[in-house]
Amino acid sequence: MTILVTGGAGFIGANFIYYEQEKHPEDRIVCLDKLTYAGNLSTLEAAMKHPNFRFVRADICDVEAVNALFAEEKPDIVVNFAAESHVDRSIEDPGIFLRTNIIGTQVLMDASLKHGVKRYHQVSTDEVYGDLPLDRPDLFFTESTPLKTSSPYSSSKAGADLLVNAYHRTYGLPTTLSRCSNNYGPYQFPEKLIPLMIANALADKPLPVYGEGLNVRDWLYVEDHCKAIDLIIRHGKVGEVYNIGGHNEMKNIDIVRLICAALGKSEDLIVHVSDRKGHDMRYAIDPTKIHSELGWLPETKFADGIQKTIRWYLDNRAWWENIISGEYRNYYDKMYGERLGRQ
Ligand code: NAD
Ligand code: TYD
Repeated sequence: MTILVTGGAGFIGANFIYYEQEKHPEDRIVCLDKLTYAGNLSTLEAAMKHPNFRFVRADICDVEAVNALFAEEKPDIVVNFAAESHVDRSIEDPGIFLRTNIIGTQVLMDASLKHGVKRYHQVSTDEVYGDLPLDRPDLFFTESTPLKTSSPYSSSKAGADLLVNAYHRTYGLPTTLSRCSNNYGPYQFPEKLIPLMIANALADKPLPVYGEGLNVRDWLYVEDHCKAIDLIIRHGKVGEVYNIGGHNEMKNIDIVRLICAALGKSEDLIVHVSDRKGHDMRYAIDPTKIHSELGWLPETKFADGIQKTIRWYLDNRAWWENIISGEYRNYYDKMYGERLGRQ
């Protein structure tokens, strides 16, 4: 079987590729990624040694390139991770979010229809449901919670979700869709809360907490997300939506304090900065459906996952220091230069 993974040089897509190579080494994985600022080919260095792996640099919005790849590889399954993913960037510049997240999804689904893909899976986010109030801990997002977005990022993801439903109903595309809570773990780009705080704390730089830091996120170790997607693409019901989350709600400030403690750094590094515009208060997933239909349960508790993650950033300093210095952007040319110049 051939699985086309888009956005596989990013955080979750790369973790998914490693998960699949370990769990289903017989499957061929083709990774299509534009290598935007968030894509880092060095993350896939070990994956590229696998005989059943191919990397192609292309934009999911590029109809010609996407169709050529589908014609050549004839993927059985498409898993679309490719996206602009950072809320703060979407507030500064929404256009690229609409283009990649909505138009890119359309291009991939058109190609999936044309080339008879057996399953198109869209990786979405709990942010499409908007937020929950802090004083109602009894409330959770279910698959039938109405979409009610706050940021240009979540709006673009919701737009794509609606289009996925439309392609299933109108054209009969065999789709599945998952909406996951905040992920953490190895290879997360150091602009997101957890890796940013680890990198800054190690450099004794200020730790910028938005507002009071009371916002709550429902954190899931990335491998548990990959396991859920693997179950959905192989056993999930066509046309369905699955929420993914592990009941690991944490306030931002508590995470930052925990990172300080784990690294032996003073909490004096914490600075409260002006709040994010439209900042969502609380996300919390009800994962009953994926548990009861597919038997999924998260395996890594936050207390263990965060220590593993901190350890990973300590052991892999070169990976994130190259990102901060910008050196990672040269990796593609160094690796592929002449060989793949045309892509
Ligand atoms: P990321 O920003 O780390 O990676 C995105 C990847 O997509 C990068 O490799 C980038 O080069 C690639 N990409 C961007 N635009 C592209 C384009 N036009 N064509 C081809 N490739 C392109 O993102 P992530 O955190 O790994 O998130 C992956 C997916 O999971 C996204 O769809 C995101 O919305 C969703 N998601 C993320 C989280 C989270 O906590 N990070 C939670 C739920 C859902
Ligand atoms: P982030 O990792 O950007 O994920 P998302 O916005 O998709 O939830 O942010 C997680 C939370 O941490 C969010 O409430 C914003 C907050 N945050 C900070 O307080 N400081 C920071 O420097 C960043 C990047 C995020």
